Amino acid sequence: MEDEVLYSQTFKIIGRDFANAGAVSVSIKRFLKEIQIKPEIIYRVSICCYEAEMNVVMYAMIGTLDFTITQDQIIIIVEDEGPGIEDIEKAMQEGYSTATPAMREMGFGAGLGLPNIKKNADEFNIQSEVAKGTKLTIKINYN
Ligand SMILES: Nc1ncnc2c1ncn2[C@@H]1O[C@H](COP(=O)(O)OP(=O)(O)OP(=O)(O)O)[C@@H](O)[C@H]1O
Ligand SMILES: [Mg+2]
Repeated sequence: MEDEVLYSQTFKIIGRDFANAGAVSVSIKRFLKEIQIKPEIIYRVSICCYEAEMNVVMYAMIGTLDFTITQDQIIIIVEDEGPGIEDIEKAMQEGYSTATPAMREMGFGAGLGLPNIKKNADEFNIQSEVAKGTKLTIKINYN
């Protein structure tokens, strides 16, 4: 069965917790190195995880990152409870950002996170409901 789950782990992400921001992506990167996934794949997964994780930290209240490996794919599902995104098309455009001045001072807010996730994914889906939350589904083929 090609979509049989080989490994799965769920991580919690806390909104505005900049002290721990990025920790989930670091754990996943370390794990993928240990199991000897190709560096090019690790690079793409890391970008997707990091950008999705940071968006939850910056814009949402709380979220989860579900990380799954099947025979063929690395699947990352990031779901949050937060303000949601009113205009997804706009949010997907390079350079569009609602980051606050404080976030920009920390180096965020280029408006490149979502476009970069899309570029680095083999399959990408974003669903969002205003005042409820956002869900990203990211799939990367690794063979
Ligand atoms: N999980 C989310 N919940 C609510 N709004 C979001 C979420 N993710 C993204 N957005 C909205 O989409 C915009 C674009 O996101 P994107 O990640 O592309 O850029 P950014 O976070 O503003 O900047 P960068 O990622 O380059 O630091 C954000 O500014 C924000 O308005
Ligand atoms: Mg971002």
